[in-house]
Amino acid sequence: MKKIIGWGARWMKRAVVFIVFLSVCFGLAACGETTQQAGNDPTPTTKAKEGEKKMAERAFNFETQTVMLNSGYEIPLNGIGTYSLLEEECENALTEAMSRGVRLIDTAFMYHNEESVGAAVRKSGIPRDELFVTTKLYPNQFNDPEAAIDEAMKKLDIEYIDLMLLHHPGDGDVAAYKAMEQAVKQGKIRSIGLSNWYIKELKEFLPQVETTPALVQNEIHPYYQDDEVIEYIHSLGIVVQGWYPLGGRGHTRELLGDETIVKIAEKHKKSAAQVILRWNLQKGVVVIPGSSNPDHIQENTELYDFELTKEEMKQINALDRHEKHDWY
Ligand SMILES: NC(=O)c1ccc[n+]([C@@H]2O[C@H](COP(=O)([O-])OP(=O)(O)OC[C@H]3O[C@@H](n4cnc5c(N)ncnc54)[C@H](OP(=O)(O)O)[C@@H]3O)[C@@H](O)[C@H]2O)c1
Repeated sequence: MKKIIGWGARWMKRAVVFIVFLSVCFGLAACGETTQQAGNDPTPTTKAKEGEKKMAERAFNFETQTVMLNSGYEIPLNGIGTYSLLEEECENALTEAMSRGVRLIDTAFMYHNEESVGAAVRKSGIPRDELFVTTKLYPNQFNDPEAAIDEAMKKLDIEYIDLMLLHHPGDGDVAAYKAMEQAVKQGKIRSIGLSNWYIKELKEFLPQVETTPALVQNEIHPYYQDDEVIEYIHSLGIVVQGWYPLGGRGHTRELLGDETIVKIAEKHKKSAAQVILRWNLQKGVVVIPGSSNPDHIQENTELYDFELTKEEMKQINALDRHEKHDWY
């Protein structure tokens, strides 16, 4: 009997050891799986998920008509561009625009109108924190970016710059960007970004700087849609803004007369310009159409009382010709 009990206990012991051994094996296998997944998979799925999350954080708010930049400041979804508007024409256009609710103004050192933009802003009487002014450093300023930032501050004379962009890639752009990063710390600039940077340029540039750009401004219109670039920029949690939204001065006639766009506009009782601007907004692209015509300026603000259907978006998407209207 003693023998039988001893024999049973031995087998029981062996069984327990075997079960423990199996559990450890399964445990390790399961662990291995997780490690493998995590190890193998900073690959597409994780990256895509991160991209989607970042994109969601930058979702357009059509109620407030703003989008939150990664810098923590909101930017209006539509504004006015000032390229080729000088002195009185520029000031008048901006005064019209601000009186019609426009709160986003785009200028640049190269437009030679920062003083006029500043004057219009100061005269408007609108509280400074309700306006959003963007300016840009040109590559010929990259050799002394600190001086260039101070020059913009002085010409604009509006307490601070909401957003400063590097206008184009060029020699010294990393140092110029770092100077903008410093100017943010000094309270001169609130947000910084880039213009005319595409996928290759961004992949080279971003690892060299500390601050992810808040916004990238590139050419975007129905004849030059650049979806791949927009998607890439969005996946980094960066807001995209389009220049030449109506095709650009000298190119607007064909785009505004495009049969597909005109038909859609008629259906919504809107203008072709409004349809194009709305198409941009629905793609997640901030718009800054340029105009000195008060009627156009007004029209360009009325973008929130209609919505393009999926089919209409598709029809406009199909107009892409990869046709750039400028060299950069
Ligand atoms: N980062 C860059 O490299 C870069 C390059 C180019 C431009 N930009 C910026 O992007 C802004 C927009 O570009 P843009 O002004 O050159 O071109 P745009 O906005 O595509 O087109 C401006 C032209 O469209 C006309 N227009 C505006 N609203 C209209 C409407 N509702 N109906 C009919 N016509 C209308 C304007 O004429 P009227 O004056 O008669 O309205 C003007 O001739 C510039 O002002 C500038 O701030 C940036």
